[in-house]
Amino acid sequence: MCGIVCYVGREKAKPILMEGLKHLEYRGYDSAGLAIQNKKHIDYYRAVGKIIELERKTNDLDIPGTSGIAHTRWATHGEPTEKNAHPHRDEKDNIYVIHNGIIENFHHLKKKLEKSGVQFRSETDTEVLAHLIAQNFDGDLNEAVRKTMSQLEGTFGLAVINRKTPGEIVVARRGSPLIIGVGEGENFAASDVAAMVRYTNKVVHLNDNELALLTKDGVSISTAQAKAIQRPTETVEWQPEDAELNGFPHFMLKEIFEQPETILNATRGRLEPGEGVPKLGGIIPVWDRLKECRHMVIVACGTSYYAGHVGRYIFEKLTEVDVEVELASEFRYQKLNFPPNTFIIAMSQSGETADTLAAIREASRKGANLIGIVNVVGSSISRETEAGIYNHAGPEIGVASTKIFISQLTILTLLALLLGRHQNLSLTDGVEAIKALTALPDQVKKVLSQDNHIQAIAEKYYKYNNWLYLGRKYGYPIAMEGALKLKEVSYIHAEGYAAGEMKHGPIALINPEMPTVAIVPKDSMHEKMINNIHEILSRKGPVIAIATEGDDKIKDMVEDVIEIPETLDYLNPILSVVPCQLLAYHCARFLNRDIDQPRNLAKSVTVE
Ligand code: G6P
Repeated sequence: MCGIVCYVGREKAKPILMEGLKHLEYRGYDSAGLAIQNKKHIDYYRAVGKIIELERKTNDLDIPGTSGIAHTRWATHGEPTEKNAHPHRDEKDNIYVIHNGIIENFHHLKKKLEKSGVQFRSETDTEVLAHLIAQNFDGDLNEAVRKTMSQLEGTFGLAVINRKTPGEIVVARRGSPLIIGVGEGENFAASDVAAMVRYTNKVVHLNDNELALLTKDGVSISTAQAKAIQRPTETVEWQPEDAELNGFPHFMLKEIFEQPETILNATRGRLEPGEGVPKLGGIIPVWDRLKECRHMVIVACGTSYYAGHVGRYIFEKLTEVDVEVELASEFRYQKLNFPPNTFIIAMSQSGETADTLAAIREASRKGANLIGIVNVVGSSISRETEAGIYNHAGPEIGVASTKIFISQLTILTLLALLLGRHQNLSLTDGVEAIKALTALPDQVKKVLSQDNHIQAIAEKYYKYNNWLYLGRKYGYPIAMEGALKLKEVSYIHAEGYAAGEMKHGPIALINPEMPTVAIVPKDSMHEKMINNIHEILSRKGPVIAIATEGDDKIKDMVEDVIEIPETLDYLNPILSVVPCQLLAYHCARFLNRDIDQPRNLAKSVTVE
């Protein structure tokens, strides 16, 4: 994963790079480093741990240079030590490189370099880049990087400076995100616009196998085959304050509380109440094929994958389309045999998840149609799919995904509704759905207003080391997502299970030390879930129930109930996930966990 940020201009580079790094820290946070060029001298610092450690090391230093590169790392090759932190250098300390991705042929390249006498200083794959670029440098840094690209297998977003060519930064990409920020008398590059949005909202996306030479006065992009590219800038919609805490103690909490707005953002301009048919401009290019589609596969990872699971049930309810949901990381290993006119929906917050990208590339090879449901505008998945729907949810910074899950469910509902209305779904059902969707933001607010109550429940249970989450049908993926949230941020072991499977194993675990979170809204599964709750209570297992307002049956049985307002059965997940998110958040807070940057995780997983 890792995050990279570069600056060349008239201002001192250090504060700009440090600020940029802080906004990329979600991408990796085990070590960080920077290299800043001042005429033919390069200042170079690295530190183990979070950005704050690098800040401590460099705070009192006045570094005058006005161009430089900086990196925050999520280790793949070599432990998170200072010697493995980026930037990496060639032997003569001329070339400094930062890199996001994996150089797959690095063993082979390293051996070759070692044979020619090169001494390595780190255990990373990245270091080969520094030595290769140095070997390939013949007065022109851009050409040296281009030549090096032809020797590499694997993925990279990289940035290079050279002591001998001050005022120049060369960036290149294959598979890892890299965006160029265009300013006046200054230019930027970064893994994510969040690192630059304070300084410019004009960006150019670099495509795979392209490189760019950045100076303060311009940006020249070319392909690996040396063809010059003219690409207009795009304007980024995000505001700098979107990436700030705005008074919340953590981004996770801020993003949970943003969810009423997230639903509005996902539906804005897309609802046609009278006809019960949503408008989704982004899929117009494929609409002729899509409306005939009877087979879809949703591919995704992590929280996006669980949203896909809910989506399957929603499509079953509203359309005639058969939907499969696949983990992107497994999808490629399957025998892909699609019926004609199959659509793949690639769903990803970042639009950069390597497994999801690899899955859609494979599906496209096999002739499937591709659409994306993506939050980050201009990201790789959005560009590699023929059409798509943006979440428009603004940046999600907490590593554990929250608001995007709700946004994905909203968008999947809109898509299913659109298709359903062109199939057998009646006007009445369509209108009812849009009415229910319109009510959701206020209903989510109502769930959020129980934050203190949920915090008190978390206080009661956070010391328990093992939790079970149970749900059926629409509630099953919420059980999995609820358990994932708890694991991610509190490090408590939790399992999400289909309640019907409890008797096939997990029931053996039930005892007074193991709380169960039961997702039990008033839907067609209600009675069966009540039976499961009885089975747990009779074995003295504590139960926390997420139930519909006014469900006295549940209140009579269970001590700890979190209520959600009544909605259509297939929209219940949008409400029932919110208490799960808050429970996880508060448990993590009681346990003093690093909520926005949990250990070993990263927000955007750009390695397979
Ligand atoms: C990482 C993040 C998760 C996220 C998953 C998929 O594991 O920590 O929060 O759900 O990647 O990311 P995507 O950007 O593809 O939705």
